[in-house]
Order: sequence, then C-alpha cells, then structure tokens
Amino acid sequence: MTQSYIAPVELEKAYRLLNHGPTVLVSAQHGDDHNVMAAAWACALEFKPAKVSVVLDKSTKTRQLVEQSGYFTLQVPCYAQLDLTHQLGTISKLDDPQKLEH
Ligand SMILES: Cc1cc2nc3c(=O)[nH]c(=O)nc-3n(C[C@H](O)[C@H](O)[C@H](O)COP(=O)(O)O)c2cc1C
Repeated sequence: MTQSYIAPVELEKAYRLLNHGPTVLVSAQHGDDHNVMAAAWACALEFKPAKVSVVLDKSTKTRQLVEQSGYFTLQVPCYAQLDLTHQLGTISKLDDPQKLEH
C-alpha cells in the first residue's frame, strides 16, 4: 500500500504548523536572485485571513530579497533536514554567493 506523507492544509489552519515553535526556512526571490535562511522568530498572527510574522535581521540577504520583491515563503523543515537548516542559518549568501549550491 502506498502511503502519502504530504497532506494539504487549509490556509486558515496553517497556524498549527507554527504554533509549536519550530525553526522555519524562509525563502525569497527577486529576479534571478533567490535565497533561503533559517528563522526561529516566526509566529502565527491571524486565522482568517491567515497572517504570519517573521523577524529577519537587516544584515541578512534574505531580508533584502523580501523587501525588494514583497514576498516570502515559509517551510517547516523535517528532522532529516536538521543539518541543512543549520547551514542555511549559519552561512550568509552575502559572504558565500554560492550558498545554496554548497
Ligand atoms: C536555528 C536558527 C534560527 C535562526 N533564527 C533567525 C531569526 O528568527 N531571524 C533572523 O534574522 N536570523 C535568524 N537566524 C540566523 C540567520 O538564519 C542567518 O543570519 C543566515 O545566515 C542569514 O542568511 P542570508 O544572509 O543568506 O539570508 C537563525 C539561525 C539559526 C541557526
């Protein structure tokens, strides 16, 4: 039997993915420039319309991309992505332009 591990979640119930306090991955893109960073300061704000807040330090490349594009994406990493999450949270694309490739 094939088991699906990915299930859609209604947007207004997406807060359940954040309320237990996971570190998330924040992605953003402006033009061809894209990046991902780790963020622990992500918080559900409202059910309907669904709103979240994230605190992104002004020294991060990801924040620059969010400010330029007006958009960001949150992903909740799984346990197998522990090392990946740590690296995305300790290496800045401003220091390593090949951050995502590495
Ligand atoms: C577990 C963890 C949680 C983090 N949470 C945040 C956060 O909430 N806000 C923030 O600005 N930086 C946070 N950071 C630091 C950024 O992820 C880090 O500065 C990253 O290198 C920024 O990457 P960028 O400059 O390529 O965007 C966190 C790092 C780790 C490892």
